[in-house]
Amino acid sequence: MKFFIDTANLEQIREANDLGVLDGVTTNPSLMAKEHIKGEANIRQHYVDICNIVKGDVSAEVIATDLDGMLKEGQALAALHPQIVVKVPCTKDGIKAVKHFSDNGIRTNCTLVFSLGQALLAAKAGATYVSPFVGRLDDISTDGVELIRQIVGVYQYYEFGTQVLAASIRHTMHIIQCLEAGADVATCPLSAIMGLLKHPLTDAGLAQFLADHKKVNG
Ligand code: E4P
Repeated sequence: MKFFIDTANLEQIREANDLGVLDGVTTNPSLMAKEHIKGEANIRQHYVDICNIVKGDVSAEVIATDLDGMLKEGQALAALHPQIVVKVPCTKDGIKAVKHFSDNGIRTNCTLVFSLGQALLAAKAGATYVSPFVGRLDDISTDGVELIRQIVGVYQYYEFGTQVLAASIRHTMHIIQCLEAGADVATCPLSAIMGLLKHPLTDAGLAQFLADHKKVNG
């Protein structure tokens, strides 16, 4: 399973990248706004800055909601850097845009996906990634991880090439559950990634090893 960090914060991206296990980055307009990145030129420069930190794919989301706007914006984003993947919402015009980009060699991440039917359209349109939002489904008492499992099963059965990118991951357990459900990618906040490291027996075991070493070696 590939591991993306879900943030536009350069410090957190560097910290995750320094671990040596990061495969990419996802952003969205809310995450960009959280970092107070505003204005087209600054936003585009920020994407390039992210690409210069990590080696893998960097999702950059279009703001336009009409087909022409999405196509223009997506082409401009894709031209910024070879690592850019154009993130497009799963709407009627969004699916048309994904199909156009896919036919023209531009990689896409079809986002805001909450159902198997939406995931089917994203795959049929040739999306590189589909992003089902696990946490936001859980927020409304619907099993987000179960949707990941369903999409993975259907994509495997019908041999779709679209990769399942589990998004809206809120905590460490979501990562584990998406791993078990067969997600190709999980995009996670830094806190959830760091949570994978935590185990009291690791801490206790290390303390014991060091204490025993000190007893003999001083
Ligand atoms: C990433 O691609 C998504 O936009 C993001 O994971 C959404 O996460 P949230 O539901 O925590 O805002």
